[in-house]
Amino acid sequence: MDHTVRVLLLFVFNYLLAAVAETANEDYSALQGLMNGFLKKPDSWDGPDPCGGSWIGIKCNDSRITSITLPSMNLKGRLADDIGFLSELQDLDLSYNRGLTGPLPQKIGNLKKLSSLSLVGCNFTDPIPDTIGQLQQLVFLSLNSNSFSGRIPPSIGNLSNLSWLDLTDNQLEGPIPVSSGTTPGLDKLYKAQHFHLGMNKLSGQIPPQLFNSELTLIHVLLDQNQLSGNIPPTLGLVLDLEVVRFDGNSLSGSVPQSLKNLTNVQQLVLSNNKLSGPLPDLGEMKRLNYLDMSNNSFESSEFPRWFSYLENLVTLMMENTNLEGQIPDSLFNLASLQIVKLNDNKINGTLVVNGTTRGNQLRLVNLQRNSIEKFVPQDGLQNVTIILLDNHICRETGMASKPYCSTSSPAQPPSSISDIPQPSNCPEKCNEPDQIPSPKCICAYPYQGTLKSRVLLNFPDQYFAKLENGLMFSFRTYHLPVDSVSFSNPTENLFPGPLNLGLKVFPSGQEGFNHTGLSNIASLLSNLSYEFEPPELFGPLDFVAEDYGHYEENSKGRDSLSTAVIIGVAVCGSLLLVLALLAGVYAFRQKKRAERAIERTDPFRSWDTNERNSAIPQLKGARHFSFQELQKYTKNFSQDNEIGYGGYGKVYGGTLPNGQLIAIKRAQNVSLQRGLEFKAEIELLSRVHHKNLVSLVGFCFEPDEQMLVYEYVPNGTLKDSLSGKSGIRLDWTRRLKVALGAARGLAYLHELADPPIIHRDIKSNNILLDERLNAKVSDFGLSKPWADCEKDHMTTQVKGTLGYLDPEYYTSEHLTKKSDVYSFGVLMLELITARKPIERGQYIVKIVRKEIDKTKELYGLHGLVDPAIGLSLTLPSFEKFVDLTMNCLEESSTNRPTMTDVVREIESMLLQAGPNLTPESASTSVSFEDVSKGSHHPYSNESFDSSAVNSSTTIKGKC
Ligand SMILES: *[C@@H]1O[C@H](CO)[C@@H](O)[C@H](O)[C@H]1NC(C)=O
Ligand SMILES: *[C@@H]1O[C@H](CO)[C@@H](O)[C@H](O)[C@H]1NC(C)=O
Ligand SMILES: *[C@@H]1O[C@H](CO)[C@@H](O)[C@H](O)[C@H]1NC(C)=O
Ligand SMILES: *[C@@H]1O[C@H](CO)[C@@H](O)[C@H](O)[C@H]1NC(C)=O
Repeated sequence: MDHTVRVLLLFVFNYLLAAVAETANEDYSALQGLMNGFLKKPDSWDGPDPCGGSWIGIKCNDSRITSITLPSMNLKGRLADDIGFLSELQDLDLSYNRGLTGPLPQKIGNLKKLSSLSLVGCNFTDPIPDTIGQLQQLVFLSLNSNSFSGRIPPSIGNLSNLSWLDLTDNQLEGPIPVSSGTTPGLDKLYKAQHFHLGMNKLSGQIPPQLFNSELTLIHVLLDQNQLSGNIPPTLGLVLDLEVVRFDGNSLSGSVPQSLKNLTNVQQLVLSNNKLSGPLPDLGEMKRLNYLDMSNNSFESSEFPRWFSYLENLVTLMMENTNLEGQIPDSLFNLASLQIVKLNDNKINGTLVVNGTTRGNQLRLVNLQRNSIEKFVPQDGLQNVTIILLDNHICRETGMASKPYCSTSSPAQPPSSISDIPQPSNCPEKCNEPDQIPSPKCICAYPYQGTLKSRVLLNFPDQYFAKLENGLMFSFRTYHLPVDSVSFSNPTENLFPGPLNLGLKVFPSGQEGFNHTGLSNIASLLSNLSYEFEPPELFGPLDFVAEDYGHYEENSKGRDSLSTAVIIGVAVCGSLLLVLALLAGVYAFRQKKRAERAIERTDPFRSWDTNERNSAIPQLKGARHFSFQELQKYTKNFSQDNEIGYGGYGKVYGGTLPNGQLIAIKRAQNVSLQRGLEFKAEIELLSRVHHKNLVSLVGFCFEPDEQMLVYEYVPNGTLKDSLSGKSGIRLDWTRRLKVALGAARGLAYLHELADPPIIHRDIKSNNILLDERLNAKVSDFGLSKPWADCEKDHMTTQVKGTLGYLDPEYYTSEHLTKKSDVYSFGVLMLELITARKPIERGQYIVKIVRKEIDKTKELYGLHGLVDPAIGLSLTLPSFEKFVDLTMNCLEESSTNRPTMTDVVREIESMLLQAGPNLTPESASTSVSFEDVSKGSHHPYSNESFDSSAVNSSTTIKGKC
């Protein structure tokens, strides 16, 4: 065919399709620019409409590109300046593309809406551009594992919304920037929780100004740099800190006394520096589980007794630290202790190692090169490696054959990491090269890489199951096509040390992943901020992927299409256009017809159009969904999407086109008569907005479908956590926080909602936990048609759940806010005991009332406290919490506190438990969302539909 004709056809083809394209022109040309920068464009980046759904990794809103996620796509080349034209972009994730190199363009600073920038494991070079400080919306910044050089731009200090700063493993040099005058600095990042700056070439002092009491940092990782000078005493002002790593620098001087104030620290690593002066007394850091101060120049000191006070200590590393004298026997009574490395000190006297401590976790005691004279082996040490080589005791004749005198170091980590469960009975090899049998013995091409822990791990092998469950849970939550995962031996394992664990992710249903599936998986793995339980053993994990070369794709790239096909496509293109036009007309007609039908049946219609009429309640945010939409978002209400059920019907999980996860309550028995009640519900629900209340996203009302669409709360119900079903363990502080969150939500309903709302069904089943384990109250204001009628529910006159019911309400049928307070008291008892309110005919309230003995420690309730809390720990404010609980459970409602009182009490408990456990706690009244009250509120009493009030006893004007 004539070349001109071909070009012409192509032109016509493009032109025709462009006419129906949805994507804004400026975004389309920006993507063209990006493609020019990449040596090879992503396979599916073809056609005129990136927003049309066929371009991989692109998400749009109103024809503007809002998200580009292309992790692990084997991209090569550079990131073009054109990125700066995508002015609506919120997410950019290009992680794990080792072939991406060159500088990060200055123009990145134009992306004013960017909230997440993830470029993990690429090969970007040159300094990080100063313009990065213009990204005012940025929350996540992960530039780790690249080749960035030069200084950390001080402008990062302008990112006032930043929560996560990860620059680990680059070539960054120079000082850590702090503010001065008008120059910004990292000390201004008040919302940041993570400073991960390890494995660079940062130098100079750690600026004292870097740390201040307004920071909410939990991780400060400055390890493996060239920092010098003292550890600034100001570090002690950052009271939220949980992990502090300064190891592998040239820090000198003594460890500041203020460190003692950091009572939340779980991992403290100061090893391999030049620290001097006396060893600090850190006995107050009760939550420490990993302490390493090895290889410093501390003054000689008597073996500290305070080690034995660290009840949570798992790993103690004090190699070469000038310790003298005898080890107190009490050290080995610590129940969690596993690893003790004390080699190269001057420890003398007799060694007594208790092998019969509760749980006996001990694996390794290395005392090589000390002066120990006597060792008294106790029972229960069979599994413990004890090393006394090069001590006096091993120099005596005949001692060389003793096992503890013959080992110099354990060949393997004491608990072999090769215990990793491997699939059995699988074919040794798969037929296709590169295929690997999955744990379920299916040959497939897994996505592979290494999981790295940024904090240190004590004994990963015990936790493989938890790690696996945690990962699979995340994959399922986001409906990713993963069949199973397996772990393999870490390549380098400086034991004990950071985890480097091989991870294989196997595809479900096919031999390889397709581009979309893999990119979603990689995107999840590149943002593993999910903290696995127990968090002290797995910090945030970083995933570094290998290239993936076995994409399963229906159609190969179109580059090699023949002329004939192109003509075909072009002809089809014009046909398509005609069809599209026809379809448009048809759709328009259908819409009109549907609208007329809706007018007859939809009591909500007026909400959309009549906004100017102030008598009609405004729906803040709650939107109307059609049945077809929700059908699409839930894969046709498939069984896979079912996440729960109740008397009203089933609950489905789903995903909105913008990626938001939703939970849909679908009513089982629907009748049009209930339309008004349903409307009242939605009006009620859509007016309450508080971070401790599950928020309503929208609703669906059709002749035979009534559905409420809520935000999806990922960590399930409090009940599932307390019963152990969800695998989430709540320690005491968390329980206090959960109680506080739930109390705040309820207080909001009681005091700030207008008119006030009485929940009537407070129970652990109705408290949900979000990804940060914050409590969210759900199921509030559900009137009759939506009432729960599971077996243990009363659905007649008095509503609520047996075991939580206020006895006064039960007898008088007179509902007040104090009935919720009573139920909340029962919930608090559940938090303490993890027992059901009524178990085997026994009522928890009665049991506790009987057992309480205020003269005893923990009020004599040891036997009732949930063992999962960890009784070896102190339970700060436990007695106060019990007092408050019993107060809520007073028989007479007038003697019970209000929910606002409860909030204040729990806040003060948390303040005492740890001064900074709840940074937001000091400002309850401000943290309530400001609800418009009184006359100017559109939902004033006059306009309130009286039939709705009657149909929903949840609402009471005066209580
Ligand atoms: C990173 O890019 C530089 C050149 O830009 C190249 O020399 C180097 O080999 C690349 N590193 C990797 C790991 O690909
Ligand atoms: C520890 O904190 C308290 C107040 O919380 C303060 O008074 C004290 O000075 C701090 N100690 C040090 C050594 O900074
Ligand atoms: C152990 O060392 C301490 C201090 O170096 C010394 O005072 C003590 O006498 C020594 N004990 C024995 C039994 O040698
Ligand atoms: C070992 O520890 C347990 C408790 O942890 C204690 O009961 C026992 O007496 C200890 N044994 C010795 C010999 O200290």
